[in-house]
Amino acid sequence: MQSKAKQVVILGTGGTIAGTAAQAADTVGYRAAQLGIASLVEAIPGLLACPLETEQVAQVDSKDMGFSVWQALARRIAHHLAREEVAGIVVTHGTDTLEETGYLLQRLLAPAKPVVLTAAMRPASALQADGPQNLLDAVLVAREPGARGVLALLAGAVHSAAEVRKSHTYRLDAFCSGDAGPLAYVEAGQLRRLRDWPQGEALGLQAVAADVADWPWVEIVSSHSGADGRAVRALTRIGVQGLVVTATGNGTVHEDLEAALLEAQAAGVRVWRSTRCAEGRVLPRPDDMLPAAQAGTPYKARVELLLQLLSARGA
Ligand code: SIN
Repeated sequence: MQSKAKQVVILGTGGTIAGTAAQAADTVGYRAAQLGIASLVEAIPGLLACPLETEQVAQVDSKDMGFSVWQALARRIAHHLAREEVAGIVVTHGTDTLEETGYLLQRLLAPAKPVVLTAAMRPASALQADGPQNLLDAVLVAREPGARGVLALLAGAVHSAAEVRKSHTYRLDAFCSGDAGPLAYVEAGQLRRLRDWPQGEALGLQAVAADVADWPWVEIVSSHSGADGRAVRALTRIGVQGLVVTATGNGTVHEDLEAALLEAQAAGVRVWRSTRCAEGRVLPRPDDMLPAAQAGTPYKARVELLLQLLSARGA
């Protein structure tokens, strides 16, 4: 039976979509996270007729995203998803760490309704701001019957939040899903779907119930020419609990760095290998001494390791 739910809840967290510059032509020297979510929505005539409500969960430049905003956001989304009249949720976010928040939310909630993250590359004050169209399209996806999972809507493309990554510093079309490609496109107010909506098992909110001050410490280190083990040994000495190494190619690590990572692993630090390649994943080999991360980027792998360490505490 098709759901009759129509309401969309728009949760604001800040970002360039809520940013302003002193000059309309300035698309670089602006301040993110200046305008409230209600005023962003009011500025879009196409949304006037939609049954929607807004809530300001945070107001941050997403480079400063932190565990307490993640925890609050996950809780508010779960609260609204449980309301029968709610068809879907839109979250406005900064582009810079949207891929981390999206990954976290999908793993925690794996929702049966759509949760659509959207953002903008230009501030709201720009001559041709991209935020209003993105927000309008995101609401369309949030109301799409049968849509599900945590999604990202940017520049007319709908991505799985678990796969999406920011791939350009400045262009409006700044996101991609690597070799998986987008799930759908929004074209002139119509959704054209290419792949199935994301499925998955939810870890549940209890995975992130701990006081954020007690969340595990997981860092990212990288393998490169001339790499050595000093940073890893220092991190291990001062209590890091997880390390993701941004490895070369199919997960190879400089031998001097690898020696330190193996010492860290022997000392009880969880160590995963991810890759600095823009596409593909690390394919495991039988002789691997450090496990390959399954999540697509080092940043997503770090979130996954964080969640696994948190879940292990509750086990
Ligand atoms: C941010 O990530 O909050 C600032 C940059 C952006 O949204 O494009």
